[in-house]
This record gives sequence, C-alpha cells and structure tokens, in this order.
Amino acid sequence: MIISPSLLSADFGILKQELEELSLAGADWLHLDIMDGHFVPNITFGPDQVKNIAKYTALPLDVHLMLEKPSEYIEKFAQSNPYMIAVHHESNDDIHKCLEMIRSLNIKAGITIKPKTDTAVLEQYIDKIDMIMIMSVEPGFGGQSFMDGSVERIQRVREMIGGRNIHLQVDGGITDQTAKAAIKAGADVLVAGSYIFKGDKAQNIQKLRATAVQTE
Ligand code: DX5
Ligand code: ZN
Repeated sequence: MIISPSLLSADFGILKQELEELSLAGADWLHLDIMDGHFVPNITFGPDQVKNIAKYTALPLDVHLMLEKPSEYIEKFAQSNPYMIAVHHESNDDIHKCLEMIRSLNIKAGITIKPKTDTAVLEQYIDKIDMIMIMSVEPGFGGQSFMDGSVERIQRVREMIGGRNIHLQVDGGITDQTAKAAIKAGADVLVAGSYIFKGDKAQNIQKLRATAVQTE
C-alpha cells in the first residue's frame, strides 16, 4: 500500500516543517495538486514552487495536473524530477500526446478521471500509462466527502487493469473508513489530505496502513 499525502492540506506558512513531518510520519509519496483556476475553480502553485518543495523533501513527487492545457507545463514540472505526473482525460488537450511526453521525459505517466466520467474512456490509454487515478470527489478542493459509486468505479478499473503493472490510485475523501472500501475494491495508492493533516500525521498514516492490513 502506497500512501501519498496531499500537500494541499498543509500549512504553507510552515511548509518545510510540514514536509519534514510527512517524511518522519512514513509517507511513501508526496501528492501535489496543481490547479489553474480554469480546469477547476481553484488556484494552487506552479512549477517554480514545486522546484522549491523538491529541495526540502526526498519523497517521490506525485504530481496531479488539474490544468486546461497540461502539455504546455509538463516540461516545466519535469525539471523537479517528479516520480509521477498525472493528467486529466477531461483537459482540453491531446491527452495521448501528454502521456507520451511524460514517459519520454523518463517520468511515470498517470491518467485520471473526474467522478462523472465513464471509466470506459480509460481503455484507450491502457498501454501508455503507469497509473490510473480515480477521483472520488469533484477536483478542486480538499476536505470533501468520498462520493457514492466510487467503490464500484475502482472495482471496474481494477478489472480493466488485469495483470498489467499499473497502479490504481484513489484521490478524495479518504479516511480510515473509506480507505477500507477503496483498498478492498482494488486501490493500491491512497491520496489523503485533510485526514492526514488533521492531528498527528504519523498516527493518521498508521491508521490508513492498518486498514490495508485488515483488508488483506
Ligand atoms: C482535490 C485534490 C485532492 C485533495 C484531497 O482536487 O485532487 O488531492 O487534496 O484532499 P482530501 O483528502 O482532503 O479529500
Ligand atoms: Zn489530487
């Protein structure tokens, strides 16, 4: 089980400390939510800030691009040497080209879909990706509730992946309760923001891991 805390819920006034705490708390990856105010009704941070973040953490960077035109920014984000870059099927761009671009930069490529998008659209990308991310909330904000129907969507995508070496990530509304259902359905990467940052990070990450062990 891979746990990828979403930095969106961090206190950016003490970012260096938050990053250190996440490493000590046992995070596996670091999820970075990039929002442009067009694809989603919120704005976060860009490639220069990610470069700075990369200076202060050794965690593999898991970059979630919520952008209208991801192709225009992939090379800029690549300068921080992220482990993974995921793009949205719904972006107004050539998504096949984006995925090829990511892999050509020696970065793992992820595809993600919003909660209302049919999981069948993922089939066209299956040979070009290292991860599928199922959004279990409408993208844009942390702290929302895990949407009904997400478990069935994860199950369907797990079946689609079959024996392929592709991660299945779930993003949005993850708690120790919803994590249980998501893992059972076949998720192997959990993104969690508000759940991890509320209170003791190590304890919260531990609780998510315990859930994975229980469902084995
Ligand atoms: C939402 C982001 C998520 C968000 C998750 O658009 O993609 O990564 O930070 O936050 P929680 O875990 O609080 O739902
Ligand atoms: Zn995200």
